[in-house]
Amino acid sequence: SAAEKGGFPDFMLKEIYEEPRTIRDTLAGRMVNGHLQFDELSLNYDELAAIDRVYIIACGTSYHAGLIAKNLIEAWSRIPCEVEVASEFRYRNPIITPSTLVVAVSQSGETADTLAAIRDARIKGAKVFGITNVVGSPVARESDGVIYIKANKEIAVAATKSFLGQVAALTLLAMLLGQLRGGLTTAQIRMLFREMADTAQHIEQILADTSAIEEAALACKDAQNALFIGRGIGSTICYEGALKLKEISYLHAEAYAAGEMKHGPIALLDEGFPVIVVATKSPTYDKVISNIQECKARGALVVAIATEGDEEIKKHADHVIYIPKVRDCFSAITASVPLQLFARDIAIARGCDVDQPRNLAKSVTVE
Ligand code: G6P
Repeated sequence: SAAEKGGFPDFMLKEIYEEPRTIRDTLAGRMVNGHLQFDELSLNYDELAAIDRVYIIACGTSYHAGLIAKNLIEAWSRIPCEVEVASEFRYRNPIITPSTLVVAVSQSGETADTLAAIRDARIKGAKVFGITNVVGSPVARESDGVIYIKANKEIAVAATKSFLGQVAALTLLAMLLGQLRGGLTTAQIRMLFREMADTAQHIEQILADTSAIEEAALACKDAQNALFIGRGIGSTICYEGALKLKEISYLHAEAYAAGEMKHGPIALLDEGFPVIVVATKSPTYDKVISNIQECKARGALVVAIATEGDEEIKKHADHVIYIPKVRDCFSAITASVPLQLFARDIAIARGCDVDQPRNLAKSVTVE
């Protein structure tokens, strides 16, 4: 009903506007007297110290949150981490031992493949942490420990606020593992926590002026295809940006690590082909600019997500969407917001029902 949408035209937009609150609530109570707080996990620190491999298992958007977390877990704890879709993980014979940590990520907590993967992993002796939005859900009940994201009920089929909550919760878990392995000092953890908390304000700032996003969406709305490219954290965000667009607008969208352009996707480009580039300030920024130039040379229409204050990028891209400057790892949170809005604007312009896309369900409880 209209009242449930709280004045917004659809649940998706309402839920995007709940993202700053989701970040705040997911982080609330997690830093007490300068220390990370995970009491409810009743952690056995000896067990955790013995972990030599992490698997993040999930489906759909939750899988993309896992891709981001892999980067942080490996960077901060140096524990090898793989991310895998649950439907693949459960049907192969992954290397699982009692020193394996499986992190199952599921907004609904009831996705059939993810649940099956949890059960298999526990039989093989792994320790399983669940990250979910639904209290008492099967994923929560069947895991050894659970971290709740605080997105509150998500109604639109396409995940938005829950994705940000997952990224925040997984980042906290990466910080915890980093602390345990000595990869992060207490001072670094406090600083990271503060900066992550600040992203709530950054998102508010993005939501306060969405005109550049709308303009870019208008320029792309009649396309048949779109390509999303980036490097590092930027590439992982692209996978989610492309998924969002195809889910709700039915425009065919594909994401690629920008360095792979020359190995295939560049062949697609012709006059006006939309290429959405995550070009925020990062260690590979210059490489990304080269990729933009390659796209422009083939006539592509380039939409860049860039860091506020970057004037240089205007020379290269057709449309620039600025977002506040954050540490590279937190651009996963901030840059995802304009990509969600971009997908929604295109879907609306194409007359699609953004809350209930055809053929899709909010949770996939049967195989
Ligand atoms: C469905 C939903 C997606 C979601 C995926 C995984 O495909 O439409 O939005 O990302 O399932 O769901 P889960 O509840 O396990 O995160």
